[in-house]
Amino acid sequence: MPGIVIVGAQWGDEGKGKVTDLLAERADAVVRFQGGNNAGHTIVRGSREWKFHLVPSGILYPGKRCIIGNGVVVDPKVLIDELATLRASGVDTSGLKVSANCHLIMPYHLLLDHAGETRLGTLQIGTTRRGIGPCYADKAARLGIRVQDMLDEKILRKKIAAALEPKRLALRPYARDPSLDLHAMVEQYVTYGHQLEPQIADCARLVWDLLEADRVVLFEGAQGAMLDIDHGTYPFVTSSSATAGGAATGTGVGPTAIGTVISVTKAYVTRVGGGPFPTEIHDAAGDLLRARGHEYGAVTGRPRRCGWLDIPLLRYSNQVNGAEWLVVTKLDVLDELAEIPICIGYVIDGKVTDEIPADVRGLEAIKPQYTTFKGWRESTEGITEFDQLPKAAQEYLAFQERESGAKIGMVSTGPDRDQTIVLPEFAAELKSITS
Ligand code: GDP
Ligand code: IMO
Ligand code: MG
Repeated sequence: MPGIVIVGAQWGDEGKGKVTDLLAERADAVVRFQGGNNAGHTIVRGSREWKFHLVPSGILYPGKRCIIGNGVVVDPKVLIDELATLRASGVDTSGLKVSANCHLIMPYHLLLDHAGETRLGTLQIGTTRRGIGPCYADKAARLGIRVQDMLDEKILRKKIAAALEPKRLALRPYARDPSLDLHAMVEQYVTYGHQLEPQIADCARLVWDLLEADRVVLFEGAQGAMLDIDHGTYPFVTSSSATAGGAATGTGVGPTAIGTVISVTKAYVTRVGGGPFPTEIHDAAGDLLRARGHEYGAVTGRPRRCGWLDIPLLRYSNQVNGAEWLVVTKLDVLDELAEIPICIGYVIDGKVTDEIPADVRGLEAIKPQYTTFKGWRESTEGITEFDQLPKAAQEYLAFQERESGAKIGMVSTGPDRDQTIVLPEFAAELKSITS
């Protein structure tokens, strides 16, 4: 089956953008299936760095079919601006389509996200404040406004009025906020609709047609398994299905359309925002990883929390994703370390286990157990052959592969697309899918 899903293994920012860009070269289409502009996916090509929030990371290939699937929540202003910026940089965006069924982020979703976080105080999730949670809440409550609604002013007005009604109390403090004026909102979204009309499409059909013609479709996940609404560290999660299954519901294909699942993990772990993080580092090693890995959020600029690789967590995420392949990124960030701990299990209430607890309270009280690898203390930056890696780095990766339940297909040794090792078995698999 020519459907390939790329997902994040932990709490996002694993390097999905780089991996998608790399694999998109041989794909016929790249499809986002969940999340919204809470995502920040980076692509580095030579001296140029690109950051994508809503546009799939295949857009740099001229005319490539790039699809924003129905599972994505779209802030139309962000999409219009992102496309305009790309066009101004000479990027051909003609291949982009957005599903008529995507739900729209409305001005009140932004206000409610902000208000919700403020109300939670010290318990706040640390959302990106892009309105993601309130938009998915409206979708589930059947009060959402969809992309197709922007094309009919009468329907749009009715739907916005209905969506606003139950929020009156929560929005009262913003009563004077000009963005909440119904008339202005309708006018604004009708204008967005006109601007986006050439891109609006029945995207499920586009994907079906591609798959039926045996074309290779790359499904680009946002966030990561531990931020998944069902399988992540709830409630410290995002509001969508960030695991591989989301690719089916978020685009309209059946699970049999997906032949390959690739999970992207850093050689260590990071997290932005609140919530449990068993292997978080609280000393200078964490600062070193943050500095060497430039670990600051691509959306909000917040410093990312850094931690050691967590094998039980990775095994769990491979399980929920059904991941057969791993791509390990940012190996070079570990180059200077004398010792590299890897978490192999936990002590919970005095009991040793190598499985992450189903109960999130267990995650808070967990004591990680580490095994320590010797660092290689030489540069791996830009290495493109596995054999050229220092022996200690090879051993670190071999352990990760053995313990995680998935094969390593690629190793990333720098942000640039060329700074990548492609393992022979993975290269052969890609060739068989794409030829
Ligand atoms: P995404 O959200 O999963 O696409 O990841 P982000 O783009 O938010 O964060 C990954 C960051 O790491 C970006 O700044 C990338 O340019 C960078 N990056 C990706 N792979 C590597 C690598 O192998 N080494 C280094 N040093 N940086 C990398
Ligand atoms: P990419 O696709 C890292 C985190 C937020 C917060 C939680 C909920 O670049 O990997 P939300 O705004 O979604 O309601 O916030 O999820 N979060 C991410 N963290 N990378 C992301 O995306 C993220 N998208 C959301 O920091 O903890
Ligand atoms: Mg990111």
